[in-house]
This record gives sequence, structure tokens and C-alpha cells, in this order.
Amino acid sequence: MASKMEPLPGTSDIWEPESLEWVRLETSARDVFRRYGYGELRTPIFERTDVFVRSIGDETEVVQKEMYTFEDRGGRSLTLRPEGTAGTMRAIANQGLAQGEGKRVFCIGPMFRGERPAAGRRRQFHQISVEAVGKCSPALDAECISMLARYLQGIGINRIRVQLNSRGTADDRARMAPELQAYFKEHVTVMCEDCQRRVDGNVWRILDCKNAGCQPVIELAPPIPELLGEESREYFAQVRKILDSLGIKYAINPRLVRGLDYYQHTVFEVTSEAEGLGAQNALAGGGRYLITLPGSKKPVEGVGFGIGMERLMMALHPTPFEERGTGHVDLFVAGRGVETQPGRMQLAEELRAAGIAVIAELENRSLKAQFRTANRLNARFVLVLAEQELAAGTVSCKDMKTSEQETCPRPRVVDWVRERV
Ligand code: HAM
Repeated sequence: MASKMEPLPGTSDIWEPESLEWVRLETSARDVFRRYGYGELRTPIFERTDVFVRSIGDETEVVQKEMYTFEDRGGRSLTLRPEGTAGTMRAIANQGLAQGEGKRVFCIGPMFRGERPAAGRRRQFHQISVEAVGKCSPALDAECISMLARYLQGIGINRIRVQLNSRGTADDRARMAPELQAYFKEHVTVMCEDCQRRVDGNVWRILDCKNAGCQPVIELAPPIPELLGEESREYFAQVRKILDSLGIKYAINPRLVRGLDYYQHTVFEVTSEAEGLGAQNALAGGGRYLITLPGSKKPVEGVGFGIGMERLMMALHPTPFEERGTGHVDLFVAGRGVETQPGRMQLAEELRAAGIAVIAELENRSLKAQFRTANRLNARFVLVLAEQELAAGTVSCKDMKTSEQETCPRPRVVDWVRERV
């Protein structure tokens, strides 16, 4: 049985040095997306439940099976965000749609889905969620995909595959549904219970079923791009043309519909062949959407994607990080005597101001114990400031790597360290 100290299944503690790598991926995202005119938005981690149900769609797996929904003390139904798009659109709509048009934002943070935990499938996971509000525009869709591919290349993920499809418009889907229904009705007996239910309800969800037994039937379903209306076909052709001109390689996956109901026209997923990802090989997914928020009549349109940070980490680091370290320090300031304590702390502050990572002895333990701590912390230098040094206006400085030891006048100490770091 798992110890009570372990994090809940599907959640994790992330220690250094792994957390430093997370910071690198986030910093690079901020840098790349800013260059395309996107700004950072931080939305609440929980929202009113209907914000998600209305936009993601009540027929979806996320809404039906995976949301962490609870009642607060006031009897309001709240949900931990399962994805970033709905909250972002709520925030943008809150400012008035007229201002929302043309807004480009990204949001980085934890998302929550009650899925069965597996490698790359977590209950608390982290997304970089990127959204551009704007009317249908093949150029904006293509730019979005290009930006995603360039971000992934920039952080060092190479063997990616961009899968692309179009879901057309709501009218297209209503027109195509009978053909899909006719096909799936012929095979429904070999499909899972959910799919059997979906044939008459939401046949589109069948295409997104993850059940292994349903895959052979799904793979032979009528290809969506061939069923699209003229306008949607032309739109999709434009997206592909622009991607070609930008040098972005992609493969058409004619049955890709994605798991959220708000999508229309372009949908895409980026998978990776990196070892370690296994079945959960979708690093990112997104598309163009049309969302009607509760309390609003006018839908918001946009295009965007979500990147799974855990999956980026798995693609970049197939072997998990073993080390569970805390901060790294360059230097330990040791010494004995309560009277010398303020002097040690002042010295530590001066060194920190010079950009050096320092821990100073705060407990007045034996020097032997302090050197042990310095060794454990892997500190390159130990500076000793005890009564004797205080009286002489000096500090004994030891380079732990070379064992070189020197008595340094107090005013020269920062330079002594700087010359050696
Ligand atoms: P999504 O495909 O549900 O799309 O999630 C995007 C990415 O988040 C996935 O490709 C995957 O890398 C990661 N992810 C999803 N669920 C999990 C999980 N349980 N554990 C680990 N990683 C996971 C969306 O969420 C849309 N909001 C994306 C979007 C933005 N579409 C338009 N704008």
C-alpha cells in the first residue's frame, strides 16, 4: 500500500534538478510566444462548472468522466480546470468581446482530469495553453501550428509528427452525421458500450474513442475531409498551402476529431516518437474553435493548442530524474559564537548581492558539524568567521575543491570568492 507521505496517484512532487528543467521549458515558451505577439494570462485554477461544461461539451469524456467537480460551502458547483481554453475564453469575454477580438494569450499551469494514471497520463498535469481569438482565418491556424512546431524544435524535441484534419463547421457535421451513423451502425456490435450509445447520440465522439477494440472499425470509417462541404474544403486546402509555404511537414489524419466538442475546421495533434512516451505520445493538440459561454449569446472564435509539459519532459528525458535535491549553494559561511552571528549574516548578504548562492550557519553548531553540512550541500567554498577572525578583521576562506586556504581581509572577501567562482 502506498505510504501516506506519497503524493496521490497521478500527481507528483517535482524536485530540483527536474524543476529547473520545467523552468527552462516555461521560459522558452514565454520567449517564443511573445515573439508572435502573445501575452501571459493567469486564470483561476477553479471556475464555475458550467464554464467548462458549456464549452467543452457535455458529451465529451472530459465532462462526463474526468472533471474534479465539487460543491463549495455556498452550494455552488465548482470544477478544477481540466484544460485551459474555456477559462481563457471566459476571461477574454469578461472584458467584452469587442476588445477580445485579436487577443493572443498563453496560460501556463496545472490542469486536472480524473483519468486512470499511466505513463504520461496524470490527474494533475501541466499545460502550456495558447489561444488566439479571431475569426476564421486559415493563415492564423497555420501560423499557430508553425509556432508550436518551432517551440518544440527550439527546446530540443525533434522527431515530431504533425497530424492534421478538418472537422468542418457545425453544418458540415450535421450533414455528414448520417453517413457516419450508417457506417458505424453496421459495426456497432463489436464496439464498446460507449460507442454503442454514441451512434445515435454524438457519432463524432466515436471517432475519438480510445478503446483498442474499436480502433479497427474507426480506421475504416469514411474519411472526414472527403465529406466536407465546398467552403470547408477550400478552407482546409488554404491551411495546408500556407503550412507548405512555411515549410511545416504534416500528415493528414482523416479521422482525427479531437476529444473536445468546441472544435471546428482545423484540428491538429503533435505526436513524438521519443522513447518512453508509449501510448501517450501526443505532446500537444489543438485546433480552431467556437465557444458559447454561459450567459452569453455571441460565441467566441479562436484557434489554439495545449502542450502537455509532463510529456515534453518524458520526450526530452526518457530516464526519470533520480535526484531529489533542494537548492544548490556555492558557499557556506561558518563560524562559532553568538556575537559573530550578525557579521556572518551580513557577509552572506553581501555575497548574495554579488550573485553568489550562500547558506550561513544560523544554529551555532560545532565547526565539524558545519563542515559536514557544507560537504553535504556540495558548497565549493567555506568561509569561517568566528571570534578570532572578527577581532582581526579577517575571514578564513577555504576552497573545498583545491583545499587552498587563505586568511583574507574582510573587505576583500567578496572579490576572493568572485575570482574563483
Ligand atoms: P487536449 O488534447 O485535451 O487539448 O490536451 C492537450 C495536451 O495536454 C495533450 O496533447 C497532452 O500532451 C496533455 N494532456 C492532456 N491530458 C493529460 C493527462 N491526463 N496527463 C498528462 N498530459 C495530458 C486541450 O486541452 C485543449 N484545451 C487544447 C486547445 C487549446 N485547443 C485549442 N486551444
